[in-house]
Amino acid sequence: MPVIIQNLLLIFCLFLVLTIVITVISHVFIPVPFIPTPKKVVDKILQFAEIGEGDVFYDLGAGDARILTAAKARFPSILAIGVEFIPTVWLLGKLRIFFSRKDVKLILGDARNVNLSNADCVFVYLLPNMMDQLEQKFDKELKEGTRIISYAFSFKNRKSEKEIAVPWLSGERQLRMYRWSAPKYPNKEEDVVHNN
Ligand SMILES: C[S@@+](CC[C@H](N)C(=O)[O-])C[C@H]1O[C@@H](n2cnc3c(N)ncnc32)[C@H](O)[C@@H]1O
Repeated sequence: MPVIIQNLLLIFCLFLVLTIVITVISHVFIPVPFIPTPKKVVDKILQFAEIGEGDVFYDLGAGDARILTAAKARFPSILAIGVEFIPTVWLLGKLRIFFSRKDVKLILGDARNVNLSNADCVFVYLLPNMMDQLEQKFDKELKEGTRIISYAFSFKNRKSEKEIAVPWLSGERQLRMYRWSAPKYPNKEEDVVHNN
């Protein structure tokens, strides 16, 4: 085998090993696997999310950015922003954005650290423990009426406004929309119980 082919093979193998190592190490910190939403569900999400002109739309744990690029293609006036923690998956997302030629922002980092105060609509497809953590973050940061679209998993202390069944792995799961509002704490005059 010519030396140049041997060297190219060696570089390819090193790249493959590096990709696997980075992905495995990242999963130690973020125990949510990369499972992309099927294409037919992406279309349903975009119909369901009530996205409007100029909306700021987030995908937290954006994977390969398929929802963001599809959203931007369908609603060109929106600001589409994604956050992805795993560098190799983030790179996949950057490649998809590059080839789609859509103006989509994909941040490499932890979704729990990104300020969401300008969000109009947020999509999440994450595991229950992450949903619990995000619920508290949303209470602190989101503006009144922000729509949260969750695929497959729900929030413990919130009631969804609407739900539809969509395909998930080999069966079906709910796609839910929550319209976020500030949690009510008993510190206002009308919430105080009077005994006399
Ligand atoms: C189930 S996949 C969904 C991917 C994409 N949203 C989709 O629907 O096709 C979850 C993704 O979230 C990423 N993720 C999990 N926790 C995260 C966090 N705290 N910050 C950023 N990304 C995260 C994972 O790396 C994975 O790519």
